[in-house]
Amino acid sequence: MSQYHIKNFEEYFQVYKKSINQPEIFWEEIAEEHFVWHKKWDSVLEWDFSKPEVKWFEGAQLNITENCLDRHLANRGIKTAILFEPNDPNEDAEHITYKQLHARVCKFANVLKDQGIQKGDRVCIYLPMIPELTVSVLACARIGAIHSVVFAGFSSSALSSRINDCDAKMVITSDGAYRGAKTIDLKGIVDEALEDCESVKTVLVAKRIQSDINMKAGRDQWLQPLLDEAYQDFKAEVMEAEDPLFILYTSGSTGKPKGMLHTTAGYMIYTAYTFKNVFQYTEDDIYWCTADIGWITGHSYIVYGPLANGATSVMFEGVPSHPDYGRFWDIVQKHKVNQFYTAPTAIRALAKQGTSWLKDYDLSTLKILGTVGEPINEEAWHWYNDNVGNNKSPIVDTWWQTETGGIMITPIPYATPTKPTYATLPFIGIQPALMDENSKELTENQVQGRLCIKFPWPSMARTIWGNHERYRDTYFSAFKNMYFTGDGALRDEVGYYRITGRVDDVIIVSGHNLGTAPIEDAINEHQAVAESAIVGFPHDIKGNALYGYVTLKDSGESRNHDNLRKEINQLITDRIGPIAKLEKIQFSAGLPKTRSGKIMRRILRKIACQETDQLGDISTLLNPEVVESIIEESKAIL
Ligand code: WT7
Repeated sequence: MSQYHIKNFEEYFQVYKKSINQPEIFWEEIAEEHFVWHKKWDSVLEWDFSKPEVKWFEGAQLNITENCLDRHLANRGIKTAILFEPNDPNEDAEHITYKQLHARVCKFANVLKDQGIQKGDRVCIYLPMIPELTVSVLACARIGAIHSVVFAGFSSSALSSRINDCDAKMVITSDGAYRGAKTIDLKGIVDEALEDCESVKTVLVAKRIQSDINMKAGRDQWLQPLLDEAYQDFKAEVMEAEDPLFILYTSGSTGKPKGMLHTTAGYMIYTAYTFKNVFQYTEDDIYWCTADIGWITGHSYIVYGPLANGATSVMFEGVPSHPDYGRFWDIVQKHKVNQFYTAPTAIRALAKQGTSWLKDYDLSTLKILGTVGEPINEEAWHWYNDNVGNNKSPIVDTWWQTETGGIMITPIPYATPTKPTYATLPFIGIQPALMDENSKELTENQVQGRLCIKFPWPSMARTIWGNHERYRDTYFSAFKNMYFTGDGALRDEVGYYRITGRVDDVIIVSGHNLGTAPIEDAINEHQAVAESAIVGFPHDIKGNALYGYVTLKDSGESRNHDNLRKEINQLITDRIGPIAKLEKIQFSAGLPKTRSGKIMRRILRKIACQETDQLGDISTLLNPEVVESIIEESKAIL
């Protein structure tokens, strides 16, 4: 038996047990046998959740790109590393071999160096899903610069706040992006963002849509001519195990986005090991994750995890509905995809269009189906299982977070028996705990509580960039000596976990993690708005949608409410991006408040969900009378 590749349920239990009883020995063996190092570690793990401080493989030296590229050159040089499928199905797919990817990354690394980027500098990457995105991520890692990828659907002000938070020296972008039938003016968004960013000295611009854009002299440079001139080899920077690899921003329940910092060795080992087992990847498989590299799913399971295993990873530029709702299945057939990893929101959107879109395509190559991003409902699970998997491909419902770096709770396909809506069992090395309100661990089965993790794992985020205190407060203060996930979960009679959803003010819309605070801040900028509160309510396709309660400064009667709604959503689009737009907006005379002045979102949530018979005790409110009028108003909205 190889503990690197678990093949059945018995092996899972054996390896799991070892990973818990002797975590250091276990991870040391994985690190020894499956990765290349410049120098081995002095200690496997040092940790203290009270600080919190976690260090894996201290003293070791490596470069993650040598593990993802160089070491495959001997045997996989002509194997496809990245299989790029363009937005337009009539444009040829691009098969980038390991040798070609290595050369492109090296050239890009030379360009970064020539432009003055040094080890430890932050580079912001704001690109569509084109090969340059993968190449630039790896080029940063090659020279030891810290990449901060910002999803190209974010607005200019969301972009500038992320650039400023980490003082990025450079932005890598493109002239524009294709998205279905639309084109998006990415460079225009960058120009607007950079009006407020003093740290950025250089902007490198990839050509994608051949649009006529403005190039600012002394700052902006076309990427391709620089690459053409660059040498195709680059000696990788030797990094320490705990050197930062990247920052990726995620929403919090309050305040500005959190720049989660991931480091090198532990992240590499855990993403590689989970990829191998969760997708049971074998040498000739074609693996496709539909996420965008702007999210953690893309970092870990399009780029680093697959490439560390020498896999072929599909990178898709477009959207599932273009040119029609058969696009995903067209790609599966065309590239003979074996593992397919997507989100519940995509599954629900496709299910809504009916099964006729699938029937013309050969999906028989599929062996494993994955889902991630939010709880998958029973109906979507069955639709996926019946129509895409033809009842023969196991579904891996993978629970994890930007903060965890890699998959934490998941079935191992063909080993763990699956159960609809259950993420099932902890992955190797992961020690979950369910906690009750009194901070007591619920050790029995058939319990429900707050999901925590008791012991460090290699790919956990080490801090929030520039704010370690916030890191401690958010994740390590709710429960002593535990990482608190922010999710609720239940454990069934056999020990399977089902994630029930967020227990804080984070709302997951179409798999995107949205904090209520920044959206409320955007709304409150409107000069007519006095106050606002956002809650989630169930939505057929998006999982949750946003419901906003807004109070106006004057009674608002004189104003056209439809126009106000448009203006509010425009503000949200400008400040955050279209993903955060409100589905429904109710203008309320007031908001329910506690005596200390805190808005009682619990009540607003019930009203938005039309569960007004379950409001609970409202007598302790400062203004209980307002609840009745909010319910009345809501009837006009629903
Ligand atoms: C939150 C993390 C991990 C990549 C995508 C999201 C929810 C994620 C599942 C799942 C139920 C899930 C949780 C988690 N979530 N996967 N399989 N079942 N809920 O990363 O943006 O950091 O969001 O997504 O609520 O806390 P993220």
